[in-house]
Amino acid sequence: MDENVILKVLAMWTLFSSCFASSLKFPPVVPALFVIGDSSVDCGTNNFLGTFARANHLPYGRDFDTHQPTGRFSNGRIPVDYLATRLGLPLVPSYLGQAGDVQDMIHGVNYASAGAGIIFSSGSELGQHISFAQQVQQFTDTLQQFIISMGEDAATELISDSVFYISIGINDYIHYYLLNVSNVDNLYLPWSFNQFLASSVRQEIKNLYNLNVRKVVLTGLAPIGCAPQYLWQYGSMDILKNHESYGFNVTNEACCGYGKYKGWIMCLSPEMACSNASNHIWWDQFHPTDAVNAILADNIWNGQHTKMCHPMNLEDMHKSKATHPLIVRGPLSALYASENINDTRTEVILRIAMQTKRRLTPNTASSLISRFA
Ligand SMILES: *[C@@H]1O[C@H](CO)[C@@H](O)[C@H](O)[C@H]1NC(C)=O
Ligand SMILES: *[C@@H]1O[C@H](CO)[C@@H](O)[C@H](O)[C@H]1NC(C)=O
Ligand SMILES: *[C@@H]1O[C@H](CO)[C@@H](O)[C@H](O)[C@H]1NC(C)=O
Ligand SMILES: *[C@@H]1O[C@H](CO)[C@@H](O)[C@H](O)[C@H]1NC(C)=O
Repeated sequence: MDENVILKVLAMWTLFSSCFASSLKFPPVVPALFVIGDSSVDCGTNNFLGTFARANHLPYGRDFDTHQPTGRFSNGRIPVDYLATRLGLPLVPSYLGQAGDVQDMIHGVNYASAGAGIIFSSGSELGQHISFAQQVQQFTDTLQQFIISMGEDAATELISDSVFYISIGINDYIHYYLLNVSNVDNLYLPWSFNQFLASSVRQEIKNLYNLNVRKVVLTGLAPIGCAPQYLWQYGSMDILKNHESYGFNVTNEACCGYGKYKGWIMCLSPEMACSNASNHIWWDQFHPTDAVNAILADNIWNGQHTKMCHPMNLEDMHKSKATHPLIVRGPLSALYASENINDTRTEVILRIAMQTKRRLTPNTASSLISRFA
């Protein structure tokens, strides 16, 4: 065997075992959790791609269950890990990190890829990624495997009872507004760009619906995946406002990185990280700490700390027996609802992108791009 092949098999095994670190102890609340998105929920996809948007090195993962880097963009768990636990499921494996046996995918699959956006080319400056539409296609392939293995009726039942978690959109703003790729400033006014993104998301959700997906959590833009100093300025997020009661006393500086707000040079090595991330909101300049991810998952599940989902939280969605598709919308996902396209939170995101663009120099651009991935 070629050395590279052996290394890849080893890497896949490491990822596989870490994703299955917790075993199923109780009957799960739902049969499976499927995840689509960007770096806010990537659990290892990009480890298999040629890209700068990777978190497969320490200190990433240092506070994870295995204390090893897995590809997650945090010091520990990401929100879907906490949600999987809430649902009584094992941690969901990444699509590229498992061998493709139905048995390994039966409790869900994570297709998320750092850098990915709603628009195919968003994030391409960083290298390879799996776009939103490609992730939906990968899910279609998974579903085909389920149908072959367990029959159409059982596969349909499994899918319609399962939860789909979609967290995507920020990279479309970054790569189109921030960097003015493809002359997009001239092609779209901000509000029509919103509308374009929203209609693309709606179309993909329709595609999922046609595959019998019925329970969707759409978090929209990563809840707080933006430059902390800007969010602090505009900040209306509960965690930022009430940081002290949550035990966070470091709110605008990341745990890992270098320079002002630890944001000028990305988090590259263990020496660049603070010793204890648990009192920080930000792990690196653009991704929250494990402690914040736990709170986000609690809020999505039952609004434990603050009501964050509309029109209902995930627990209520699970209990309701409605047959129409249920979409729980998280913070900033108003962006995707056409009736609310001018939502003030959307405006904040746009303003952040615009302001940051003016401050960009070629030298800081590339580091910013990777931070936003
Ligand atoms: C975006 O790029 C186009 C040309 O590709 C240019 O005409 C336009 O002025 C740029 N916009 C900004 C805000 O830099
Ligand atoms: C945050 O609190 C810890 C103790 O829990 C303390 O060591 C640290 O200096 C504090 N940091 C700030 C910025 O207040
Ligand atoms: C980090 O700090 C928290 C309190 O802020 C404490 O409970 C925890 O034990 C500390 N962890 C380590 C590894 O020192
Ligand atoms: C959103 O705001 C813009 C600019 O203020 C306005 O031109 C547009 O009509 C608004 N769109 C909706 C759907 O309200």
